[in-house]
Amino acid sequence: MSTTAHSRRDFLACAAKAAALGVSGTAGLSGAPAFATTLSQSPAITADAGVIPYGAAARSDALLSDPSYRAAIVANCQMIVPESEMKWLELHPTRGEYSFGKADAIMDFARQNKIEVRGHTLAWYGAMPTWTEAIADRAEAERELVDHIGTVVSRYRGAIPSWDVINEPLADWPDGESLFRPSVWATRLGPDYLDIALRETAAADPDARLVLNEYDVEFKGPRFAARRKALIGLLRSLRDRDVPLHAVGLQAHLFADRRIDRDGLQELLAEFAALGLDVLVTELDVIDYRLPGKIGERDALVARIAGQFLQSVCDVVRPKAILTWGLSDRYTWVPTYFKRPDGMANRPLPFDADLKRKPLFDVIEQFRRKAL
Ligand code: XIL
Repeated sequence: MSTTAHSRRDFLACAAKAAALGVSGTAGLSGAPAFATTLSQSPAITADAGVIPYGAAARSDALLSDPSYRAAIVANCQMIVPESEMKWLELHPTRGEYSFGKADAIMDFARQNKIEVRGHTLAWYGAMPTWTEAIADRAEAERELVDHIGTVVSRYRGAIPSWDVINEPLADWPDGESLFRPSVWATRLGPDYLDIALRETAAADPDARLVLNEYDVEFKGPRFAARRKALIGLLRSLRDRDVPLHAVGLQAHLFADRRIDRDGLQELLAEFAALGLDVLVTELDVIDYRLPGKIGERDALVARIAGQFLQSVCDVVRPKAILTWGLSDRYTWVPTYFKRPDGMANRPLPFDADLKRKPLFDVIEQFRRKAL
């Protein structure tokens, strides 16, 4: 489907139609566009002045099929980030063809409920369609990356104020030889892919905040220290080349069997500040597969670990937002990769699978409201 820059009116009409189309055969509530909620008349959460906004990764299928989840998102989130709907695999499944139905439906839901949307993500190694494996050289890689970013970002211009432009650029254990995680972009374009992606996003939406998002920089240990060092070097090189960047996203997938490196983290945050970069906590959850099974004890440990992390961060900087990678244990990526050996369900998120609030949400609320 070729796309041109939609005016906002066109976009919203398109999103409503896409939302309805996106659910072929399933009428939205009372015939309204698919993601309309009975709560859409409820006042959106007012963004309390001085309180750090909270949000969560959201899934379009669950927003459509699960009214209690939809209501919990509306009741608790000031922002959402599509968990998969804005990745290449969903948006750009075949060369030259874009598919915006699910992304537009999430945008429509968010608009109706006055919830902000973060864009995720424009340049990553993951969730890439197989056709991109055939990208053969530098010129082709640049052409496809620029076309994707220009098409996607201009479609949502003015509706997505913050984009994870670059996601997880660093190698697992970066060293002199291999700083970058292998991807079609790093392979074909080298470090220039970051410049190209960030400059193209800025050109497509000059008002969007551009974010570089990374994980495994929160903990004690040589690999994590190497990642922090490499991240600082990368950010400085972008600054030296005048590449536009506004913030760093700390994903904060907190492994319960690792120790938070308070000093290391605070040195990193000081470097961000020295570079004039804001900070967001973008994907907070606690990977609990090695914690004791007993639920009360485990939930308390999860909250404590998140509290240690948020204390380390909020003692030195005020994150622009705190998002968890999902709202409820009912929909979490964690068991896909970190199943518990005892077979019990993971409990990484602020609300349990029955949408009951957990101590982790209390901790997030505490830090959202903590004056710096
Ligand atoms: C994850 C999704 O949650 C999973 O459903 C998918 O199978 C893999 O990707 N860091 C990121 C996210 O930036 O995009 C990843 O999302 C989780 C790790």
